[in-house]
Amino acid sequence: MSKAALEPPHRTRVDLPQDTLVAIGLILNERLADVLDLERQAKQAHWNVRGARFQPLHQLFDAVAALAVGWADDLAERAVQLGCVAEGTLQAVSARSELPVCPLNVNSADEWLHVIAEALAFCANAARADIKEAAAADDDITADLLTRITGEADKQLWFVEAHLDQS
Ligand SMILES: [Fe+2]
Repeated sequence: MSKAALEPPHRTRVDLPQDTLVAIGLILNERLADVLDLERQAKQAHWNVRGARFQPLHQLFDAVAALAVGWADDLAERAVQLGCVAEGTLQAVSARSELPVCPLNVNSADEWLHVIAEALAFCANAARADIKEAAAADDDITADLLTRITGEADKQLWFVEAHLDQS
């Protein structure tokens, strides 16, 4: 990689090495794409879920979407604090997100629960994996942000998985 590729586009007084700013900025944009994709998937489920459990699931999926919007704002603003560009357009998110593709519609409420469980789990587990990378790069602020997001996503995943336990 050339030296130029290791410099963030904007100068910052944050005293982390340039290559760290770029590496953490990329991580933040990867996680940003995840959670924005999750937000879209949760709204898709919120709008289209049907059945006897409509009301609680309608509200649960909306709560997931609202949390994802907050996570996205914090991830994007951390990337900018590090001198990087926050890449949150639909096109950028579509190109970068590695979440399972969300169907436009499914045949049951349980299928929507599975869709959102998979999307939430991807977001939580990817953020969890990046905590150590941020900490190893001495960026404790990003590590702390990812830790908070992972904790909140794990909690939402519990709510979703609990609906799938029929026993
Ligand atoms: Fe709504």
